Amino acid sequence: MIKTWWKEAVIYQIYPRSFMDSNGDGIGDLQGIISRLDYLKYLGIDVIWLSPIYQSPNDDNGYDISDYQAVMKEFGTMDDFDELLAKAHERGIRIVMDLVVNHTSDEHKWFMESRKSKDNEYRDYYIWREGKDANTPPNNWGACFGGSAWQYDEITGMYYLHLFSRKQPDLNWDNPKVRQEVFDMMTWWCDKGIDGFRMDVISMISKTADMPDGEVHDLYGDFAPYCVHGPNVHRYLQEMNEKVLSKYDIMTVGETAGVTTQQAKQYAGEDTRELNMVFQFEHVEGDGKYGKWTDEKIPLTTLKKTLSRWQNELYGKAWNSLFWDNHDQPRAVSRFGDDRPAYREVSAKMLAICLHMLQGTPYIYQGEELGMTNYPFKSPDDFRDIESINAYREWCAEGPLSHEVFWPCMLFKSRDNARTPMQWDDSLQAGFTSGTPWIAVNPNYKEINADAQTKDSDSVFHFYKKLIALRKELPVMVYGKYELLFEESEALFVYTRTLEDDGQPAPQTGSLKSEKLLVVCSFCDHETDFTLPDEFIGAPCLISNLENTYDRPNLTVKPYEAFVLYKK
Ligand code: GLC
Ligand code: CA
Repeated sequence: MIKTWWKEAVIYQIYPRSFMDSNGDGIGDLQGIISRLDYLKYLGIDVIWLSPIYQSPNDDNGYDISDYQAVMKEFGTMDDFDELLAKAHERGIRIVMDLVVNHTSDEHKWFMESRKSKDNEYRDYYIWREGKDANTPPNNWGACFGGSAWQYDEITGMYYLHLFSRKQPDLNWDNPKVRQEVFDMMTWWCDKGIDGFRMDVISMISKTADMPDGEVHDLYGDFAPYCVHGPNVHRYLQEMNEKVLSKYDIMTVGETAGVTTQQAKQYAGEDTRELNMVFQFEHVEGDGKYGKWTDEKIPLTTLKKTLSRWQNELYGKAWNSLFWDNHDQPRAVSRFGDDRPAYREVSAKMLAICLHMLQGTPYIYQGEELGMTNYPFKSPDDFRDIESINAYREWCAEGPLSHEVFWPCMLFKSRDNARTPMQWDDSLQAGFTSGTPWIAVNPNYKEINADAQTKDSDSVFHFYKKLIALRKELPVMVYGKYELLFEESEALFVYTRTLEDDGQPAPQTGSLKSEKLLVVCSFCDHETDFTLPDEFIGAPCLISNLENTYDRPNLTVKPYEAFVLYKK
């Protein structure tokens, strides 16, 4: 197995709009991030993944880019960015940029040209089709953010494809000029000294030539068979690798929703010359009752099965990302743990152990290290997210479901749960802004905030800090082989990691030695009897989320208790 820094790293995702506001306009910005770099250094993370900071009309909070080489005015200037990069590097922190190139904004100059006429030189930068007739789009595909995936454009009387919102037209990657423009832009950022790319919905860049109606699920036809992992996606990524990525010491992670383990071995194979790792969603998906919407937890046995399949099938062949949440998911502790006051901290720590002991590169989403929770939304007017707003309209206000049925699903799954401001301290607006925040601060900020937790050695924050430090000492956390135990248990997630000395040095963790971990995590609010495997009786405890001893064969595991035993 290849040993590299990006396998050993811990990544911290910043959603700039909600991280830290430096000038009181209620919107997080680059100077705000700079002012919190020491906090991140203290936490111990290696890499920041910066959600988009480019110029954007913000239909989808920066995932609709109108200029890839300019900074969004609300976030600051290119000088601020250069300062952020330099100051992060001074602290040994790398910066990975979000690369959103499946689509642009409809306000990007390429699109403004493209829509002007059928023979415009930018026409083929996007995907234009005739409608079936004057009022019917080319096919029945639905967009991810609701409605048809096609938008009629009056100027030329044709439709353009947008797999996300109307303001996010899909680029035509089959056009070699589009690919070259993207590669040139990436080279420009690499030459600036950035450390990698997180590639937004990169598995969707290649579409089939014919675009038939999709099978109707929910409200519209499904585009996935024609647009996700399309015919040329690997060819285009190999071309990107050859022309750009291979020339720099950077890390790349592809957001690849719907990928199978088999496909992941191609996207992020040790020797396939595409990307370093995938960021896939199988463990956080498949629970939806209405599209992605649900109010129910994923059963532990299902979760374990999915995670274990990824652990086993990629081992030694490809690399995966590890995460419970991000800016598109609800808060980890509310979804997979238990955010009731008695269990919030203990279950947040349990989730941290469970994830950081698996194989892959761990991602921490801002505030996860504090155990931040979902937001108690009161009404549909509280949402800012285009997906949530459109879903409420489509499923409920104008659709088949009653408010009573759909509302709990929105509370449980809305992306805005993750987008409320970072809770820095117990002052007004949680120290995020001196003005009015663009989205409300969670009212629990007085109890849950960074200031209190950095001062309390028993906090969720310090627990994450400890896990990150352990990763630097224990190659088994990075390179050890995974094995699931007690797979039928609905209460406990138990697994081992085993490392054998292969004589090859690892960049950060030193040379590999033979060592083994037993990881035990309770995912429930009751006690569970548990018998230690013989080989771990008497093994020392590396880390645990409760004051306890584990030196007897028969244990009673407390609600959300988690511990790791270590054996040479
Ligand atoms: C990705 C992003 C998400 C965005 C979408 C469209 O899934 O993570 O936030 O809305 O792509 O760019
Ligand atoms: Ca600001």
